Amino acid sequence: MPTPLTLYSPAKINLFLRILRRRVDGYHELASLFQAIDLSDVLTLSLGPDDRLSCTDPFIPTDATNLVLKAADLFRRKTGMTFGLHAHIDKRIPIQAGLGGGSSNAATTLWGMNELCGRIASQDQLAAWSAEIGSDIPFFLTHGTAYCTGRGEVLRPLSKLGSKLLWIVKSPEGLSTPSIYGKLKANELLQRNPEEALEKFLKGNGEYYNDLEIPAFEIMPELHDLKKQLLNQNFEAVLMSGSGSAFFCIGDTQPVVPQHYFCKKASFVNRNACSWF
Ligand code: C5P
Repeated sequence: MPTPLTLYSPAKINLFLRILRRRVDGYHELASLFQAIDLSDVLTLSLGPDDRLSCTDPFIPTDATNLVLKAADLFRRKTGMTFGLHAHIDKRIPIQAGLGGGSSNAATTLWGMNELCGRIASQDQLAAWSAEIGSDIPFFLTHGTAYCTGRGEVLRPLSKLGSKLLWIVKSPEGLSTPSIYGKLKANELLQRNPEEALEKFLKGNGEYYNDLEIPAFEIMPELHDLKKQLLNQNFEAVLMSGSGSAFFCIGDTQPVVPQHYFCKKASFVNRNACSWF
């Protein structure tokens, strides 16, 4: 039996997130600059006769609905392999936060299973397959910085951005992605050009915005109050990540928030082509 693989499974933030329109299939066409950060879960993976999943967080389902086991199933279907996966998640990324924790776990599983099987698939194949089980998963198979379009699965990998210190803040209440998209009125949004926002980031003077803040603040007005409180604390930027409810605050100084809130320092992270995060 080969030794288990222990891999970091990083979170992501969206430095800007523009929703362009609602599609006929119910998904939304978006344009967003995704960046991986070093706030990570830890996954332990090994091959076995059947599928088994455990997690340190008792609120996370460990049955076939978990993206880790969906990824294992996808890998088997695409490669014709038949073995099972034994996986354990040490959960450190808050859930219902817009930080992509579940998607990252799925991407890490695909990468890890491919390693355990002797790299039978290319990274491009893994990324293309992964879009079948979640829009944000292909991003986590890039090196960690990408401009994502389509429903999130069309990737333009970018060179590393200048590193920034940031803080992830999340109140105990989470938000569900489908409910945020369901509340969004895509045709009422400001018609900002995402390519211009991208240019600004590449030149080092980013324009941070997230169209999903509007429906998130409608559903949970206290999030808007939290953003205002954080904005008063002299950060370069304070923005909700993805569909929320976590915020990232760009700056060195620890934000002042109630003690029971999640509040952790993080920084941008990228990987090399042949190794994982
Ligand atoms: O692709 P994924 O399963 O992560 O998406 C979860 C839900 O988020 C979808 O069912 C849809 O309601 C919403 N979504 C969307 N447009 C996107 C991505 C997600 O409407 N581009």
